[in-house]
Amino acid sequence: MTGAIAGTIERLREAGVDNPRLDARLLTTEEQIARRVVREPVAYILGHKGFWTLDIAVGPGALVPRPETETLIEQLLKHAPDRTAALDILDLGTGTGCLLLAALSEYPNARGVGVDSSAEALAWARRNVEKQGANARLVECDFTEIDGAYDVILSNPPYIRTGDIAGLAPEVRLYEPVRALDGGADGLDAYRALAPAIRCLLKPGGLVFLEIGAGQGAEVSAILGLEILGIASDLAGVERCVVGRKS
Ligand SMILES: C[S@@+](CC[C@H](N)C(=O)[O-])C[C@H]1O[C@@H](n2cnc3c(N)ncnc32)[C@H](O)[C@@H]1O
Repeated sequence: MTGAIAGTIERLREAGVDNPRLDARLLTTEEQIARRVVREPVAYILGHKGFWTLDIAVGPGALVPRPETETLIEQLLKHAPDRTAALDILDLGTGTGCLLLAALSEYPNARGVGVDSSAEALAWARRNVEKQGANARLVECDFTEIDGAYDVILSNPPYIRTGDIAGLAPEVRLYEPVRALDGGADGLDAYRALAPAIRCLLKPGGLVFLEIGAGQGAEVSAILGLEILGIASDLAGVERCVVGRKS
C-alpha cells in the first residue's frame, strides 16, 4: 500500500466513513476525497451507481439506487415469466429511473412511464433513459395524478418515519432528498396515497411490486387492498417487497 493511499484511508476512517479502504481505492483526486470526508455519498462523487445490470447516472436531487431495491425486479421476473410480453409498466416515484430501466431491460417489447414530483430527480431519469435508449416516457407530477392502464406497477416510495430521519447516516440525512425518504409520522403516508391510485391504474390481472421498510409488510398489504401474492425478502433477509394483483 502506498503512503498516499494509507493517508487517505486514515482520513476517511477519522471522518467516520464505513468502508475507508474501498472508498480510498475508488476516489482518485483530492477534490473527491475532500467531498467524501464530509460524508457525501460515493455515488454522487463518482456520478453513477450500478443497479441490476445497468450503470445508472446519479447525483444531488435523486436517491442513490440501493441493492435491496433489486428485489422488486427479481419478483417481477418471477411473477411475469414471459419476457416477450408487451407490458405497459409504470414506475411511481422513479427517481433516477433505475427500477423502470431495469424492468425495460428485461422485457424488450415493454414500454414504460416513470413518474416523479421532483424535477431534479427527473433530470437524472432523463439522462438514464437516453443513455439506455429505453422506450420510456417521464412525467413530472404527483403519484396520484397520472392516468392510464398498466400491466405492471413498480414503486419504491418514501417510507422512513419522520422521527427516524435525524438518526440516519450523514450520507443519507445530509445529502439525499428528504422527499425521497420521509414517509410521515408512521412511514406509511405514501402507501395510503398510492393505494387507491394503484387499484385504479392496474389492468385486471395486473401486478404491483411495492418496496417496503423493515416490518411494514402487514400494514402495507392491508392498505393496498388487493390480492397479496407474497412478501419477498431481500438478500439480507429483510422483508422488502409486497407483491399484489388486481383480480
Ligand atoms: C425512495 S425514492 C425512490 C427512487 C427510485 N425509484 C429508486 O428506487 O431508487 C422515492 C421517489 O418518490 C418521489 N416522490 C415522493 N413523493 C412523491 C409524490 N407524492 N408524487 C410523485 N413522486 C414522489 C421522490 O421524489 C423520489 O424520487
